Amino acid sequence: MDPRTNPYTPNAGAPPPALVGRDAELEGFEILLERLRRGYAEQSMLITGLRGVGKTVLLGAFESRARASGWITVPAEITKNEAFGPRMGSMVRRALFQVAPKSSWTDKLRRAAGALKSFSITVAPDGSITAGVDIEPLEGTADSGNLSDDLTDLLVALGDAAQERETGIAFLVDEVQFLRVNEFEALIAGLHRTVQRQLPITLVGAGLPQLPRLAGEAKSYAERLFKFPRIGQLSPPQAEAALAEPAAQLGVSYTPGAIDVIVDYTEGYPYFIQEYGKIVWDLAPEDEPISQRVAQEAQRTVEAKLDESFFRVRAERTTELELHYLRAMAELGPGEQTAGDVAAVMGRRTEQLGPTRARLIDKGLIYTTGHGRGDFTVPQFDRYLRRNHDLAPPTPRR
Ligand SMILES: Nc1ncnc2c1ncn2[C@@H]1O[C@H](COP(=O)(O)OP(=O)(O)OP(=O)(O)O)[C@@H](O)[C@H]1O
Ligand SMILES: [Mg+2]
Repeated sequence: MDPRTNPYTPNAGAPPPALVGRDAELEGFEILLERLRRGYAEQSMLITGLRGVGKTVLLGAFESRARASGWITVPAEITKNEAFGPRMGSMVRRALFQVAPKSSWTDKLRRAAGALKSFSITVAPDGSITAGVDIEPLEGTADSGNLSDDLTDLLVALGDAAQERETGIAFLVDEVQFLRVNEFEALIAGLHRTVQRQLPITLVGAGLPQLPRLAGEAKSYAERLFKFPRIGQLSPPQAEAALAEPAAQLGVSYTPGAIDVIVDYTEGYPYFIQEYGKIVWDLAPEDEPISQRVAQEAQRTVEAKLDESFFRVRAERTTELELHYLRAMAELGPGEQTAGDVAAVMGRRTEQLGPTRARLIDKGLIYTTGHGRGDFTVPQFDRYLRRNHDLAPPTPRR
């Protein structure tokens, strides 16, 4: 088939041609906005899921819907190496200038700008955040040096300004698991206050499956502030729709056998579906349905592509011992494994491997599911590791 018309989107965050299986989350988001608009409290959402299941895409879809309902949106991605305070400062700055152009700032807006100035001087003394906000800092507001208190002041001032202008602000934050505990705590505390004050501000986030645990550890009341919808594999009919609908729009169909081959291999993981669809499309002959044979023939290419573009970059971020650990975990198969079982495969004691496991969690390659159990954050990582790495011989226990 002509690669120029290939509809599939195997790219991080790329909106798929058919966004299937996310109706519940989209509806939840619309309910959240509408309730906030009416001044009712509502739990916000932190979307969780493994790598490549469509969290970023879903945040993007939330953003378009928020904008279409007249909300101000500020998207952001947390990174490991950037402090959150200054980041939040620039997000608030972006929000503020969308609430109203500076020429029409009222007292409330000037107050919010003054709070932003105080906040910025406190978290980023180089003045990098407040370029263009030539307003005096608001003394005694957002300048205590305690991130929780200061962020609370800042969000409340911003919320007051938005409320006065009869608008709302939605922050859409990706990779939330990279927040440090004190940063997460500050964010939760700030949002808690805006909920109590019934201000039209919300923060919807996305991240790896450990988010509920991290949020709970940061603030015990986090679970009352957020829902944690988990997204993941598409069901077989949804996976079929994700494959077949974009092709059908271009007059191309799949045979049922071809669909089965692809759905089986991908297990309904969205990124794998896009990658498979993209490759099979290019291989398939024109003017006939995409057949089971072509789908099967494509599999080796798909696997090589996934190894190279999705799995290897993650495996390469490990030390030798960490890789041994991952490979031993893969030996036990898919799903969660206990630290004790992994240690047994390696012929070591659990405590000896504690630091290795902790580093793998820190690197975002595995996450804990409770009671000493852990799982890969990358779907089908066990398969990848088994087909590309040998199991190191166990070291005798000492
Ligand atoms: N509902 C869906 N239906 C079909 N394809 C989807 C769906 N959601 C996402 N995709 C596709 O899946 C891929 C991964 O999406 P996305 O980058 O949003 O995942 P992610 O969960 O943010 O991954 P990561 O954790 O690595 O950032 C993209 O190629 C996207 O086009
Ligand atoms: Mg993402």
